[in-house]
Amino acid sequence: MEGKARAAAITPVWQIRDASDPRIAEAGRMIRDGGLVAFPTETVYGLGANGLDGEAVAGIYRAKDRPADNPLILHVASVAEAKALAGEWNDAAQRLAEAYWPGPLTVVTKSAGHIPAIVTAGLDTVAIRCPSDPIALALITAAGVPIAAPSANASGRPSPTRAEHVLEDMDGRIDLILDGGPCQVGLESTIVDLSVEPPAILRPGGVTREAISRIIGVVREETAEPAGAPKAPGMKYRHYAPKAPVTVLEGEPGAIASYIGEVLARPDTSPDAPSEDKNPGRKTALLLSGESWRLLAERGFLPPEEQEAYYCRDMGSRDRPADMGTLLYDALRACDREGADQIYAEACSPEGRGAAVLNRLRKAAARRIKCGFPETHDPKREQQDD
Ligand code: TXA
Ligand code: MG
Repeated sequence: MEGKARAAAITPVWQIRDASDPRIAEAGRMIRDGGLVAFPTETVYGLGANGLDGEAVAGIYRAKDRPADNPLILHVASVAEAKALAGEWNDAAQRLAEAYWPGPLTVVTKSAGHIPAIVTAGLDTVAIRCPSDPIALALITAAGVPIAAPSANASGRPSPTRAEHVLEDMDGRIDLILDGGPCQVGLESTIVDLSVEPPAILRPGGVTREAISRIIGVVREETAEPAGAPKAPGMKYRHYAPKAPVTVLEGEPGAIASYIGEVLARPDTSPDAPSEDKNPGRKTALLLSGESWRLLAERGFLPPEEQEAYYCRDMGSRDRPADMGTLLYDALRACDREGADQIYAEACSPEGRGAAVLNRLRKAAARRIKCGFPETHDPKREQQDD
């Protein structure tokens, strides 16, 4: 392999069928020796380095072009390994880990003294997660060290949920990609800060707020942009965004279908079309629920498949936001590959996993429109996560 943080000119991709593949041991050695290896987790692909080797971790920041003040999550294979990284492992941490590890939950605790400052960006807390993907767990065990890993996208781009997405952003910048197929959850882990009282959810994700409250009682939601310094430093960075501006459409399918019908039917030159909705020679991506597609078809608004001006994607039922979550980043990246100039994405129900889907959609959005309401609003583009 290449030396510390010096990646191969063309990054190899190894198809890994399951956790018994002997090449996982080799990948683990590469990580222990200072290399950069992207690997699947149940949430999104991670870009891993030896979490106890500050120089190797510096390579992650370079490969992603990630701001240095945005700390990383340490990935472990057991609660015992997590405890060794925490300066204080309180009762809430123990109970949440017992309930939801391995799984899509990251806990923030006081950090132990031996963790390189580059991992925590100088904070006195550390983020720790035990992923459930068997290949990820086997890799951490093979490495024999905690693996520092952010999502394996270039900073600001949608997180990768397939090995191809990692290759799009990281080819020639890292040593190896383990391809374990598409990620099940498709959105990053829930982050819960247990170093504060009451505990605070810094980022919604695969484990819902209700599920966390069931185990530890009251939790605050800190996902809205707070006035002072954001608690998860990553929250202040632009994130999840494809190249084209995203308009999030909220409301009932009937109202969304009507809005889309107007956008599609509006003549390119119409003087009363809002400039954002003008469509001359632009490619429009439509990421809509199955319900809205059915209504559009009934109303005859369906753009013909062969029409080059559209990229259409059925994001599944509005009642199954978890499915939408699994597809979201793949769909946003597909919009880039298809050369979309503008993207319309339908919101889902805020229930359960829907909270995380809506959080990511809104962070990717240039604007939100409440369809079926007289006034539309156009909030300033939020600052975003990495
Ligand atoms: O699902 C996931 O969490 C994926 C997979 C690879 O595990 N990882 C991931 O990492 O999403 P990343 O780096 O893209 O996002 C980590 C977030 C950032 O917003 C960062 O600011 C926050 O976690 N974070 C890390 N350490 C923290 C700490 N000590 N206190 C507060 N926030 C922290
Ligand atoms: Mg990320």
